[in-house]
Amino acid sequence: MTDIPSAVPNSADTPSGQKAQTGQTMWGGRFSAKPAELMQAINVSIGFDKRLAAQDLAGSKAHAAMLAATGVISSADEAAIQDGLSQIDAEIASGTFPFREEFEDIHMNVEARLRELIGPAAGRLHTARSRNDQVALDFRLWVRDTCDRTAAQIMALQRALVAKAEPNADTLMPGFTHLQPAQPTTFGHHLMAYVEMFGRDASRFVDARQRMNECPLGAAALAGSPFPIDRFQTAKALGFDRPTANSLDSVAARDFALEALSAASICAVHLSRLAEEIVLWVTPQFGFIKLSDAFTTGSSIMPQKRNPDAAELVRAKVGRILGALTGLTVVMKGLPMTYSKDMQEDKEPVFQAFDSLDLALAAMTGMVADMEPVKDRMAAAAGSGYSTATDLADWLVRELNMPFRDAHHVTGAAVKRAEGLGLGLADLPLADLQTLEPRITDGVYAVLTPAASAASRRSYGGTAPDQVRSQIQRWKDLLA
Ligand code: ARG
Repeated sequence: MTDIPSAVPNSADTPSGQKAQTGQTMWGGRFSAKPAELMQAINVSIGFDKRLAAQDLAGSKAHAAMLAATGVISSADEAAIQDGLSQIDAEIASGTFPFREEFEDIHMNVEARLRELIGPAAGRLHTARSRNDQVALDFRLWVRDTCDRTAAQIMALQRALVAKAEPNADTLMPGFTHLQPAQPTTFGHHLMAYVEMFGRDASRFVDARQRMNECPLGAAALAGSPFPIDRFQTAKALGFDRPTANSLDSVAARDFALEALSAASICAVHLSRLAEEIVLWVTPQFGFIKLSDAFTTGSSIMPQKRNPDAAELVRAKVGRILGALTGLTVVMKGLPMTYSKDMQEDKEPVFQAFDSLDLALAAMTGMVADMEPVKDRMAAAAGSGYSTATDLADWLVRELNMPFRDAHHVTGAAVKRAEGLGLGLADLPLADLQTLEPRITDGVYAVLTPAASAASRRSYGGTAPDQVRSQIQRWKDLLA
């Protein structure tokens, strides 16, 4: 990056119209750098938009082919341009391409290099095009590729979750509301809840991609082109469904990036929830899962520690990603039609957000594959906290035809009695239960274990292991 000279506000108090002490003009005196250096420092974007190189070359190749096909440039010039662009492609691949700040951004770097390689014919490439539609195209292509890649990564995470859920469809664990034991569920069912969430996340990227898949190239600066260009040809060559239908919108729109960042933010929220559960589950107090050394670190001072750093960092990434969405939203707010240089600030937040999401998804996929449930701890916890109280109430409704409200009342009394005796619900003697409701029989005990409770919840999408297995099978088919 440019070495930015320090800006020293040494003449802020100089009365207007007077020269600062340095003898420079007021404006010149306020900054120690020359205007040209400052302009370059604030204007240059090659440091980050070099990441659009592949998209820029693809766009230029499609544009050159179209210009030749429509007779705007000769086929000899086109051949030279294609050849030069291929050489640049190879230079970028081999790391020898000279990215130069003096040429400001990726578009002008490519064009300058093309001129060095093929001479004056390079100057014909920019016919019927502007950097405004060019950057709109490049960025859209980058975001489109990223939506595809992210959806694929989310599906890889879903596969890891399904693979872990399958052998644990009947691994009992407590289900929580308010982080209080509520009703027994299974580890497999719990993991499959995230498969559903991540499934919606992946589909958000698929939807966003579909909406953004229109080609802005050919809008030129903003108003369209007087040349007989074929925008349908370039759109098709670049894998778009159609060209964008309004030239002003083509260069002004960035909602495709906002939408991708929104999808990324929601996905990051889901990742943070699972990460938080992993952090809880590996504590000795929960002790529900074990993570191997691969995803934990020791402490430099406390030898017994095994810290779930990877999960904590995944939990934190939502901060950056949501920050990027907020940042770009504020950049775009209130911008008049059409292109404004503000929009050069669109790329860094998107690059950074997706770098973070990429890493978070990979780390979470690794952790899910790595984690092993501690089944006896989970099963013991599944039965604690009177988690089968609802099963008792439901039994009273089913077997004795009690109204649910009355059954709830009797069950509350039973829990109170068991608590007083220091017993679990299933250990409460029948005589005690019958003092609360004489019609209770010993048939009730069959529903009071966590396993019976889980197995009984056969409603569609419920906890019962056979329900969970059928959802696992559905997802295996979808993800195959
Ligand atoms: N580097 C610019 C950007 O990222 C490219 C477009 C410049 N267009 C212009 N009219 N100055 O937005």
